[in-house]
Amino acid sequence: MKILILAAGQGKRMKSKMPKVAHKILDKPMINWVIDVAKQLSKDIGVVLGNGIEQVKKLLDDDIKIFEQKERLGTGHAVMSAEQFIDNNEDILILYGDVPFLSKSTLDSLIKVHQENDNEATILTIELEDPTGYGRIIKKGNEFIKIVEEKDTKAEEKEIKEVYTGIAIYKGEKLKRALKNITPQNAQGEYYLTDVFRYFKKVKIVKTDREIEVAGVNDRVQLANLEKKIRKEILTNHMLNGVTIIDPDTTYISPDVEIGIDTIIHPQTYIFGNSRIGQNCEIGPMTRIKKCVIENDVKIIRSECELSEIKSNVSIGPFSRLREGTIIEEGVKIGNFVETKKTHVSKNSKAQHLTYLGDTYVGEEVNIGAGTITCNFDGEKKNKTYIDDKSFIGSNTSLVAPIKIGKNSLIGAGSVITKDVPENSLALGRAHQVNKEGWLLEKSIQKVQNIKKGE
Ligand code: UD1
Ligand code: CA
Repeated sequence: MKILILAAGQGKRMKSKMPKVAHKILDKPMINWVIDVAKQLSKDIGVVLGNGIEQVKKLLDDDIKIFEQKERLGTGHAVMSAEQFIDNNEDILILYGDVPFLSKSTLDSLIKVHQENDNEATILTIELEDPTGYGRIIKKGNEFIKIVEEKDTKAEEKEIKEVYTGIAIYKGEKLKRALKNITPQNAQGEYYLTDVFRYFKKVKIVKTDREIEVAGVNDRVQLANLEKKIRKEILTNHMLNGVTIIDPDTTYISPDVEIGIDTIIHPQTYIFGNSRIGQNCEIGPMTRIKKCVIENDVKIIRSECELSEIKSNVSIGPFSRLREGTIIEEGVKIGNFVETKKTHVSKNSKAQHLTYLGDTYVGEEVNIGAGTITCNFDGEKKNKTYIDDKSFIGSNTSLVAPIKIGKNSLIGAGSVITKDVPENSLALGRAHQVNKEGWLLEKSIQKVQNIKKGE
């Protein structure tokens, strides 16, 4: 079975310069929601793109076939643009890029009915309290007759509550042939894909009651409402799987996140990308995690972490920022106002206050004093800092990279270190302190004498 996703539409009602399917829901572009479910069902996936094609292409993996619809002449025309993708001997499932929350199990049942009954096409429908905007299913008894678009409905057809979800599976050959027959003779002057069913003999319906799965996103109000609903479902699943979420109203977790049991998520927390969080962690409050792998027993408070790896028994924050390429090993403590980028911090080391570690390797049991800065950028390129095991970097130290600090060394506070430090050494890179005893006293005696002289 092949899968074709239609995503060329303008999304006029979004009032956006960005194509509709590139808009994000829980930090994941709408098109990727559809593609991810498609991937679970087929290896042969095509996408029809038009508006903002370049922007959308960037969101797709290389194995997705792209077809361009040069003009927006309707959903039927979109499928015609991918005619070469349709195989006469294969079924094709067509999905709409703006219907993002379909589940594999719903599609499985559609496919099953289609294949077991050898249908020409099988369509997914739903009954809605308010069917406004959707194509209505016209039946004679239980037999499917046709779909009528909202704008083409007669008064009595408007009352029909069973609507087309935009999802259907077809026999490739039948679809190809039917597409040749459809015309844009309708209220919108478009080639409706929904018209192909008129040319089929055996169309069957599968009805779902999962409203959230078939909801289309047409404007930003729907986008926000749907995000709220799907977010609630995701959070409910985590809670039922043993995760404590203190305040579901202010917690945002994207669909591909995994969280272990007994982890507690505090309010105002965002966990995005395909992040994985272990068991017995405490995340938040006010924390944002994106594309991170976090092991067990980790605490992250009021911090930002992206593209980072955190091993077990680590404490991060408050107010830490782990940027891409950070690796934090077991037992490490990263404290307030510490920023890391492309940095590896080994077991039981500490950087607790006001520090920047960039392009840095930190060995085990190192203490990074408050205000330590790795000066990794020389104006042209980034340079590496290497701090070996058990070193102690005094407060307010600048380490001018490229630089190596040997094992078990001590850097005096306030140093600017520009040369490598051998192991077991003390390095000082600051001016010697000079004390001038009695200096202020002499000054004031002089002042008094000057006054007497009348100066
Ligand atoms: C469509 C269905 C309607 C159904 C509803 C479900 C048709 C004619 N109507 O209506 O019966 O109830 O979806 O959500 O199919 N697209 C293109 N190229 C085009 C036009 C659209 O690729 O020229 C894509 C859009 O990007 C979108 C999808 O097709 O992902 C659906 O298009 P849209 O205009 O939103 O159709 P609806 O009016 O919602
Ligand atoms: Ca739509």
